[in-house]
Amino acid sequence: MRFTKEDPRSWFMEKRFGMFVHWGIYACGGRHEQEQMRYNVPPAVYENYADIFDPVKFDPAQWLDMIQENGMQYLVFTAKHHDGFCMWDTAETNYNIMNTPYGKDIVGMLAEECHKQKFPLELYYSCVDWHHPAYPNLGRHHEITTDPAKHDMDQYMDYLKRQITELCTHYGEIHGIWWDMNVPQLLDTSVNALIRKLQPKAVINNRGYDPGDYSTPERNFQDEVFRPFDGITEACDSVSMNSWGYCADDDLFSSRKLERQIALYTSLGSNFLLNAGPRPDGTFPERTVKLLNRIGSWYNCVKSALTAPPCPRLQNKNILCTGGGKELNLIFLETPQAESVRLEGLDILPERCELLNSGETLPATLEANVYDRHLPPMVRLRHLPVERMNNEIQIIRMSFEKDVICPAKNSNLGR
Ligand code: GLC
Repeated sequence: MRFTKEDPRSWFMEKRFGMFVHWGIYACGGRHEQEQMRYNVPPAVYENYADIFDPVKFDPAQWLDMIQENGMQYLVFTAKHHDGFCMWDTAETNYNIMNTPYGKDIVGMLAEECHKQKFPLELYYSCVDWHHPAYPNLGRHHEITTDPAKHDMDQYMDYLKRQITELCTHYGEIHGIWWDMNVPQLLDTSVNALIRKLQPKAVINNRGYDPGDYSTPERNFQDEVFRPFDGITEACDSVSMNSWGYCADDDLFSSRKLERQIALYTSLGSNFLLNAGPRPDGTFPERTVKLLNRIGSWYNCVKSALTAPPCPRLQNKNILCTGGGKELNLIFLETPQAESVRLEGLDILPERCELLNSGETLPATLEANVYDRHLPPMVRLRHLPVERMNNEIQIIRMSFEKDVICPAKNSNLGR
């Protein structure tokens, strides 16, 4: 499925890079967004975080500046994570942001700033709830164990629908609901129907109570053969290796590893959601901001190549290709072994080859096929900055005088 241009959700096809923010009272512990379950913290102890959560430095305008400077075009924010704590002024439970020393509606503040800046805001809502007594916590994955005598899925679903109604009616336009962890695998199409009725622009992912609008591959791509995605897709990864919420001791990924993820998914047609977790005071850690800045300045240079249509006939697992007509972009997922690559399958010399990362032009020549003299000649791209390629995903745009006809079969580009 794809959204047609007239569909109010079609904004999602234009804005391809988003920021994911995991933030809740778990930031106080600085260990993991699932601290309560992973460190076996008794609920009564964990809930104390609500008595100290006071993010006095939270500034939604500053968040949006940082997000936009780094090329991201929409925001997905955790309104409620698995711990059940609500980051908005909800009438459905006292376990919410109004009952913290901070006492201000964080979802409301973000929504207000997003509306002011016309910036799409989506809200993440965890199906699993470790706080609500009626949620059937049976100790399955992503669940703790709670009193079975109180479990009542119908009651919980009513609660969830009332909360979703609040989120979809109290904050103006909302651009999506991002479900997570429907552990019981319950099917209930009335939930997404409710969102669709209240918020026509809202995109809905596939982790809720029906397949929704799009799929959500997480972390690493497992597939060996890279094919463009059939349906709408939004991949996600976090800046850090083990957590999505703020974790003082987590290991940040290298910018190259994240650029590779972003380049791989977006050039195959997916959106990409990059996550970071703010500290308990409301600011992002400096090292996270530095990393986002590195990725952001890279993305801003290469974005037009990543968001061009996939051109799968001219690619292999080392080099992906996008574009068409008079322009083809080569996305080097792996660093070539030498300073030149031979593009078997491409027998028209480009007029210009530009390294989008820096704006430099690179020389290219048309040469006999060194692998098989009976085959047509092929383009040799030269003077590639192989050392720099180890640090940053490089993208070359080839511009041609005429439309390029892609080979009928997959080529052996740059083997
Ligand atoms: C993983 C994490 C969860 C996080 C989610 C985001 O499932 O376990 O905490 O919210 O990814 O996609």
